[in-house]
Amino acid sequence: MTGSGRVMLLPMQERDLDEVLALEQASFTEPWTRKMFLGELRGNGFAVNVVARAGETGALMGYIMFWVVFEELHLMNLAVRPEARRRGLGTDLVRHALAVGTERGVRTVLLEVRASNLAALALYEGLGFARKCVRKGYYDHPREDAVIMTFFTEKGGATMLNEDPAILEVIRRESSEFKTLEETHHRLEDQLGELHKLHFLTAEEEQLKKRIQFDKLATKDKMAALVRNFKQSRSLAAGPSS
Ligand SMILES: CC(C)(COP(=O)(O)OP(=O)(O)OC[C@H]1O[C@@H](n2cnc3c(N)ncnc32)[C@H](O)[C@@H]1OP(=O)(O)O)[C@@H](O)C(=O)NCCC(=O)NCCS
Repeated sequence: MTGSGRVMLLPMQERDLDEVLALEQASFTEPWTRKMFLGELRGNGFAVNVVARAGETGALMGYIMFWVVFEELHLMNLAVRPEARRRGLGTDLVRHALAVGTERGVRTVLLEVRASNLAALALYEGLGFARKCVRKGYYDHPREDAVIMTFFTEKGGATMLNEDPAILEVIRRESSEFKTLEETHHRLEDQLGELHKLHFLTAEEEQLKKRIQFDKLATKDKMAALVRNFKQSRSLAAGPSS
């Protein structure tokens, strides 16, 4: 149950998909296909997919879909039934995702949103998300920029990428594993960049994009672990400060 009346949050099932697809099509100019939803439900161990229903068997009110990959949470999809909007359900769904993420140790939450989607931008900003950067011409139908937004959980904030460059330089010199991981990370980033340039992604390219995103996050997570170990070993070697 959420703060928005008798609405229940339940795991999304395949039997929800007819209603979910109808809401998806009513909500987006480039809606996900059934195949894409099935991919999240069947083939993605990182995905958390939640529907909001008016009571356990009542009408579908909305849904949220996100990935929890190591220390990052990626918000993938969110919609609220048009008649039920502006009553706090969208906020409740995102808060639910943040709560699940925090429980699983997430530090950083990321999402992308159309630059013209003022409703969603206001919702996310109201929850404390910040605009990180703009990805030019990211969306099609219509062609539009994506705003990338981030949120740091209370645990988080110190992601590897924010690490002191001087420390990274020392680790690079001392750890060939770190150097290789960093090169892999750059290569995956370039591959993603190439996919982002395409105006339209086929279902196969969408899958490829997901795989690259997984690999990129896994690589980053290993790099972060190496940084943590490095800092720990240095502080142990330095001995207690008092
Ligand atoms: C974006 C969306 C999920 C918001 O759901 P919602 O249940 O209406 O959101 P909430 O009621 O929790 O709204 C929270 C805040 O967001 C902002 N907001 C929401 N809708 C807004 C609108 N149409 N215009 C301006 N601000 C809006 C407001 O600040 C609102 O707080 P307020 O009502 O106290 O002023 C919903 O509009 C939707 O499904 N849109 C289509 C799909 C979509 O754009 N999904 C997001 C993809 S990134």
